[in-house]
Amino acid sequence: MTRTPKAWFVGLAAILFCATSVAFAQEKQIKEEPIRHTSPASGAEMYKAYCAACHGKTGEGNGPAASALKTPPADLTTLAKRNNGKFPIEHVMSILRFGVPEPTAHGTSQMPIWGPLFSSLESSSMRGPNSPQVSMRITNLAHYIESLQKK
Ligand code: HEC
Repeated sequence: MTRTPKAWFVGLAAILFCATSVAFAQEKQIKEEPIRHTSPASGAEMYKAYCAACHGKTGEGNGPAASALKTPPADLTTLAKRNNGKFPIEHVMSILRFGVPEPTAHGTSQMPIWGPLFSSLESSSMRGPNSPQVSMRITNLAHYIESLQKK
C-alpha cells in the first residue's frame, strides 16, 4: 500500500509539534518557591537564599533568573557610586520593606516586596512590618549590600 497524502500530512504535523514543544521547554521560566527560613543575623546567608537568583552572587545583576525578567535586576554593587559615593541605606531599606515605589516602565516591578515575606516567617504573635525580626533582616541585608559596593 502506498502512503496517501493524508498520512504524510499527519507525519509532518507530528514533527512540527515536537519541534515546538522543545522550544517551549527551553523558554526560561521563573520558579516560585515558598520562602525558606534563614538566620536573620546573617546578611550573607539571606542574600544568597533570597537575592542571588536575580541580582547575582556578586550583586551585579546577573543571576540565573535575570534573563527571564521584564526589567533587568539592578546592579547592587554601584548603589553608592550612583549616589555621589554615599551608600543610600535608607533607600535600600525602604525598597526592601515596601517594594520598588512606582510601577516601572514595564508595569509592576518583579522585585519582591520583602517586608511581608519576612514577616510571614515569624510566628503569628511576632508578625508585622515593624517586628524586630523583620527589621533585623532588612538592616543586615542592607549592610551586606553595602559591603558589595565597588569603589
Ligand atoms: C525575582 C527577581 C528579584 C529578586 C529575587 C530580588 N530582586 Fe531586587 N530587583 C529586581 C528587579 C527586577 C529590580 C529593578 C527594579 C524594577 O525596575 O523592577 C530590583 C531592584 C532592587 C533594588 C533597587 C536598586 C536601585 O538601583 O535602586 C534593591 C536595593 C534590590 N533590588 C535589592 C534586593 C535584595 C536585597 C533582594 C533579596 C532580599 C532582592 N533584591 C531580590 C529583582 C529581584
